[in-house]
Amino acid sequence: MHARSLVVPAIATAVAAGYWVTSLQAQAPSKAGPAAPSANFDQLIDRNSATMLGEGRQIFRYDTFGSEAFWGDALRLHEAIMGQGLGGVGAGVTPRQALQLGLKVDATALPPAVVEGIKNGTVSLDKPETTVELLKLNAVVGVTGIFDRDKQKMRSMGIQCALCHSTVDDSFSAGIGRRLDGWPNRDLNVGAIVATAPSLKPFVDLLGVDEAAVRTVLKSWGPGKYDAELDQDGKAMRPDGKSAATLLPAAFGLAGVNLHTYTGWGSVPYWNAYVANTQMHGQGTFFDPRLKNSQQFPVAVKGSFHDVRGKPDLISSKLAALHYYQLSIPAPKPPAGSFDASAAARGKAVFEGKARCASCHVPPLFTEPGWGMHTPEEMGIDDFQANRSPDKRYRTTPLRGLFTRMKGGFYHDGRFADLSAVVAHYEKTLALPLTAAEKADLIEYLKSL
Ligand code: HEC
Ligand code: HEC
Repeated sequence: MHARSLVVPAIATAVAAGYWVTSLQAQAPSKAGPAAPSANFDQLIDRNSATMLGEGRQIFRYDTFGSEAFWGDALRLHEAIMGQGLGGVGAGVTPRQALQLGLKVDATALPPAVVEGIKNGTVSLDKPETTVELLKLNAVVGVTGIFDRDKQKMRSMGIQCALCHSTVDDSFSAGIGRRLDGWPNRDLNVGAIVATAPSLKPFVDLLGVDEAAVRTVLKSWGPGKYDAELDQDGKAMRPDGKSAATLLPAAFGLAGVNLHTYTGWGSVPYWNAYVANTQMHGQGTFFDPRLKNSQQFPVAVKGSFHDVRGKPDLISSKLAALHYYQLSIPAPKPPAGSFDASAAARGKAVFEGKARCASCHVPPLFTEPGWGMHTPEEMGIDDFQANRSPDKRYRTTPLRGLFTRMKGGFYHDGRFADLSAVVAHYEKTLALPLTAAEKADLIEYLKSL
């Protein structure tokens, strides 16, 4: 005890002295130029950090990147939402139906009168009018209605990153609550939503199939899934006839992680530019010569997607802040009581020891620092999705916040229904000698991440 209490102040003094020396050196006037205003530059960094975070959040939640030219103007999705009664087509989409399709409502965007109205039933969740009102309030997560100047008629709509990568905490009711950015929306049925569009002509032209075929593909995705490579390679189905869509991944806990997407297409800003230009159909600049490969990416070659130069560019100036915000989103911690803590502690030892999980899922990132990519053979799975990417491998998925993606299964396409199926797969592939108790502990550990 005594020895320790003497040592600590000694270290503190040494550190302080060292600091004093370096700060003196920093302040010494340099002959080469004016004295560097280091304190001011520190403040500048802090201010920049706060600005980038705020701007990035705004972009992630509300920026359409000009995608209304596609979702509204070309597909006319807003007309399907409004329905005939409001000057659109068909029956329209009620809030109840929108919630069933997995769309989420940001409760903090609702004025008290609307909140009251929903509670006492005077604001009906069974009328498309209410959906349009919610869009006017900018309360539908990831969807922005574009209204004419007097805010009467919806004339188009665009989408945001938050559509697929945010959900809500259900604090008001199911599907209505505070935003949870970065949490994948595993309820969202992107394909079913797009399939309601009055026109699918852009997909028909690009993929060279008829409208009925496009609708079949869209409906094959199901909740929590989307296919971010379909408009590059035109592969709608796997060889076994199942959908080629992948699960919506987490967009939190990504700081320190080098490669992104299930197949490691590139860094976060790489992928953000890819998605904003080629998937959300915003207007900007995107360059990737790897797509100029007619064997692997025939549709990309047809559309020249390896070199996109939209003008004016509504995307590139937003990539820095968007990147910054995404890296700032921490992986959420699972709620207390959602796992057995003592079993999880034992499971940690199994994960890091006998089961060899930590050789790839390296804590605390739970992916490999470096180039965390593995061949289909190493993973003991087929190569279909890997072969749709430039490097033809699977990236080690960062595992933190696993509890937010319990719906839809595990691995890129959700092929393993639950964690015990994942562990059983590794047991076989890695020939692990695990006891039933060790497997159970390992699962509790995964739930605790
Ligand atoms: C229509 C749904 C959808 C939208 C909108 C969308 N994404 Fe994604 N995102 C996906 C899917 C699906 C993947 C997985 C793709 C894959 O692995 O092939 C993904 C992957 C990612 C990843 C990789 C995560 C990881 O595990 O490394 C990041 C980061 C990301 N998206 C960010 C964004 C940003 C930023 C935007 C807005 C510019 C955006 N996404 C818009 C569906 C979407
Ligand atoms: C050789 C490297 C490697 C080893 C060893 C490894 N993993 Fe993985 N893990 C991966 C890769 C790559 C993926 C992505 C596979 C995919 O999406 O198709 C993955 C995915 C997962 C997922 C699914 C995550 C999600 O969101 O879908 C879980 C859970 C998981 N691993 C747990 C484990 C456990 C538990 C062990 C030890 C028994 C383990 N891993 C050992 C590389 C590895």
